[in-house]
Amino acid sequence: MKKVNGFLIVLVMVWTAISCGGKKEEASTAAKEDYGTPQEEVAATKSDPIAQGESLVKANDCKTCHDKTNKIIGPSHTDVAKKYDFTDANVKKLAEKIIKGGSGNWGQVPMTAHPNVSESDAELMAKYVLSLDGEKEH
Ligand code: HEC
Repeated sequence: MKKVNGFLIVLVMVWTAISCGGKKEEASTAAKEDYGTPQEEVAATKSDPIAQGESLVKANDCKTCHDKTNKIIGPSHTDVAKKYDFTDANVKKLAEKIIKGGSGNWGQVPMTAHPNVSESDAELMAKYVLSLDGEKEH
């Protein structure tokens, strides 16, 4: 009888150790899945000016007049990308146009000014627009 009890105790101890160990591992994997991905996404967006520019274009009123591929009131952003080389000078030039608005490059219809858009945000949006024809900044 004594022997059997001892065996049972060992069995219970082993089972407890296994099940606790298993649970711990499960919990840490779940935590990785819950928090890892969004953090990685934020980090990726932060280091990618094109992705940031795209979010800004979506968050502003640009879609009222611009589509990625079709002309609405303004030229399609892909047509803008085809017209201009993806250079620093053109990023600055288009960023200024986004802030100040104006007409003449595509016709007589003016683009509205965006005085509340910061220079750096306007440059990110210009970079996104200029990337749409597949060109990389050079
Ligand atoms: C009220 C309509 C309207 C809105 C809103 C608008 N645009 Fe435009 N956009 C135009 C028009 C019209 C033109 C063509 C201007 C021209 O002929 O020079 C244009 C031109 C542009 C160009 C090319 C500029 C050039 O000189 O070739 C870029 C880049 C651009 N828009 C980006 C944006 C972005 C980014 C936003 C959002 C922050 C935006 N637009 C919001 C109407 C608009």
